[in-house]
Amino acid sequence: MSNLIAPSILAADFANLQRDIEMVNNSEADWFHIDIMDGVFVPNISFGMPVLKAIATHAKKTIDVHLMIVDPDRYIQTFADLGADVLTVHYEACTHLHRTIQAIKAAGMKAGVALNPHTPIAVLEDIIADLDVVCIMSVNPGFGGQSFIENTYKKVSQLKHLIEFAKSDCQIEIDGGVTSKNANALIEAGANVLVAGSFVFKSDDPTTTIADLKAIVG
Ligand code: DX5
Ligand code: ZN
Repeated sequence: MSNLIAPSILAADFANLQRDIEMVNNSEADWFHIDIMDGVFVPNISFGMPVLKAIATHAKKTIDVHLMIVDPDRYIQTFADLGADVLTVHYEACTHLHRTIQAIKAAGMKAGVALNPHTPIAVLEDIIADLDVVCIMSVNPGFGGQSFIENTYKKVSQLKHLIEFAKSDCQIEIDGGVTSKNANALIEAGANVLVAGSFVFKSDDPTTTIADLKAIVG
């Protein structure tokens, strides 16, 4: 399985969104990571459907939507219609997670589950075989630009073992505080999709920063 870089559009320049989307299109990046926040599940509001619709009009790569919202079942079909390829919900936001995952797949998308930093990997034991992606949050969700939580490495190896035990081909995505300093160690631990927001978009040359990350992760 190749290792992927997913720039997080949360850190883009919203006044020049089309320019930043084209930059990602023309870079070595693999996915667009799109953060949807509702101000309830997390203490921040990002952007909603009209903005995702505009992004999808220009994006030429996989659209990876990370829902940080309560009761995400309400919007599964909406995100499918908007062009999401991967739809990730939070474990902590889903009472009937199995049903939610089946609904995401039935709508034609790959299904992901994100875990907050305090949520143990073990809670996924009975759902791992149904998942396409597990997103381990390496910061508390809600904001870009936070510091990477070191306990993440341990969780990546635990998840890698769980995936191998289940003989699943689920991908391990890391979200929050990813930089060129921790990228290699995350891949070594078993991750294969790295989300990077601030590190890419706040750099002097985002295209080169993406290429550098891609060279590190292989
Ligand atoms: C945080 C979001 C992340 C965020 C990552 O809640 O889920 O995707 O954009 O940003 P950085 O890479 O700046 O930590
Ligand atoms: Zn995210």
